[in-house]
Amino acid sequence: MIRLKSIDVQKTKMAALAVPVCEDRDIHDGVLKTLSGRAKNLEEFNGKAGEEVILHNPDNVKADRVIFMGLGKLEKIDAEALRAFAGKAVKTSIQKNLAGVSLATPIAKNLKMEAGNMLEALLEGAFLGNHRFDKYKKEKKLTPLKNVDVLTTPANTRKHGALLQRVKAICAGTLQAREWVSTPSNDKRPGAFSRMLVREARKVKLKTRVLTDKDLHKGKYGAILAVGEGSQDKPRLVELVYHPQGAKKTIALIGKGVTFDTGGINLKPSGGIEDMKIDMSGAAAVAATLIAVARLKPEVSVAGVIPIVENMPSGTATRPGDVIKSYAGKTIEIGNTDAEGRLILIDAMAHALKRFKPDVMVDIATLTGACMVALGDKIAGVFSGDDNLANAIVAAGQKTHERTWRMPLPEDYQELLKSDIADLNNMSSSRYGGAITAALFLSEFAGKSRGAHIDIAGPAYIKQGASYCDAGATGFGVRLFCDMLERLIKNQPSPFKAKACFISIEL
Ligand code: BES
Ligand code: MG
Ligand code: ZN
Repeated sequence: MIRLKSIDVQKTKMAALAVPVCEDRDIHDGVLKTLSGRAKNLEEFNGKAGEEVILHNPDNVKADRVIFMGLGKLEKIDAEALRAFAGKAVKTSIQKNLAGVSLATPIAKNLKMEAGNMLEALLEGAFLGNHRFDKYKKEKKLTPLKNVDVLTTPANTRKHGALLQRVKAICAGTLQAREWVSTPSNDKRPGAFSRMLVREARKVKLKTRVLTDKDLHKGKYGAILAVGEGSQDKPRLVELVYHPQGAKKTIALIGKGVTFDTGGINLKPSGGIEDMKIDMSGAAAVAATLIAVARLKPEVSVAGVIPIVENMPSGTATRPGDVIKSYAGKTIEIGNTDAEGRLILIDAMAHALKRFKPDVMVDIATLTGACMVALGDKIAGVFSGDDNLANAIVAAGQKTHERTWRMPLPEDYQELLKSDIADLNNMSSSRYGGAITAALFLSEFAGKSRGAHIDIAGPAYIKQGASYCDAGATGFGVRLFCDMLERLIKNQPSPFKAKACFISIEL
């Protein structure tokens, strides 16, 4: 359980108290200031970023141990530094097999931050750090903490109760997405994965609908079907819908759900195939966002549309050179069976446009290795012809530290997707700019609603554990989307509770 708590550290017993320490300024007062000073007097600790020292049973506080963590110089301390502090404090306490930890909070005005923003970052880091993906381990050596208390004043405890609930809803979504993405592909083939999503969605009373392969055949979803052709486990198209009474606007979120991407007949080589269980990270982000949204209850409709397939090579698989007909009616020559994400996305987008007539449509996908070449593995690419929407996504990325960077959509590159015999080729004729040509391919099917595409091939997972995320799936996209949704609903200080709200993008 994670709480905001107000206690007297001199009187309340704690297994562990974690104290953030700034290198060049005091960020505490009273007993914590005195204690930080004592820690800094030690040779091995100066409050530099990354430093850590533990004092056992020090005078003046009733903590079995006080963990001091350096944050570095004041000017460098931002929300992300606080998330990292909270995440590391939790992880250190897990390593020590403790039942809980209390986090001391700095004086917000010393950090030049609003108390709400500071507490939000600490709660996020603590919540996200308190997670382990160990369901495949027989022996669970380390378990998440039972209690994490973020210490603050009695007034803040009362004032920020709603903030706590909001952080919990959103971060629980991130952890849910991590669980789905980390699950190996043999346990989340399309049928099984679609059931997982629906089961969790129903718990929060989302409307759900699953189109089976039969439905997809009947409806002529030729692009989704073509990608799923090589697998014994047939494609699904999942709808998760949050539709509050009186909502005037609809936002559609589309998430790529390739439960394993072998590349198909254009088989991926060793080194490129091992991590491809993560190719449904977009789907996980969309489903988990919808679940968070169901808890947050904004007055805007949100529709999640999630195409789910397994991309396999086999005697029934789609071949390079085949021509298929998409749900929207355009024909596509398959230049490369490994460019499958854009195929399932265009059918899902066309479906979303027809069924929900969204005002805004955003897709998220582990779409191209090229996007990782461009932006590295921590930053997602954002593609949109709509400045307001792109700015909302980029700003959401800055706020949440799920970082994004806007990329161009040059019209003249569109000709790289020409086919001699079909309306389009799914593969660019150039070896360069692959993230852009993939986005341009999608833009052909975006319809009239305002749209954006987010390529998360890089940040969907990390090879090395970080402060509030172990190595593996990151759950990237859920916090980004929740923040983006808030930005799209304007004129209210707390839009998720707002009575009347509308989308700030002019329609
Ligand atoms: N799933 C991959 C993209 C990917 C690569 C995600 C690395 C995460 C890490 C996607 O389906 C793919 O294979 N894209 C091809 C496209 C190409 C054939 C045009 C790529 O990026 O090479
Ligand atoms: Mg020192
Ligand atoms: Zn692929």
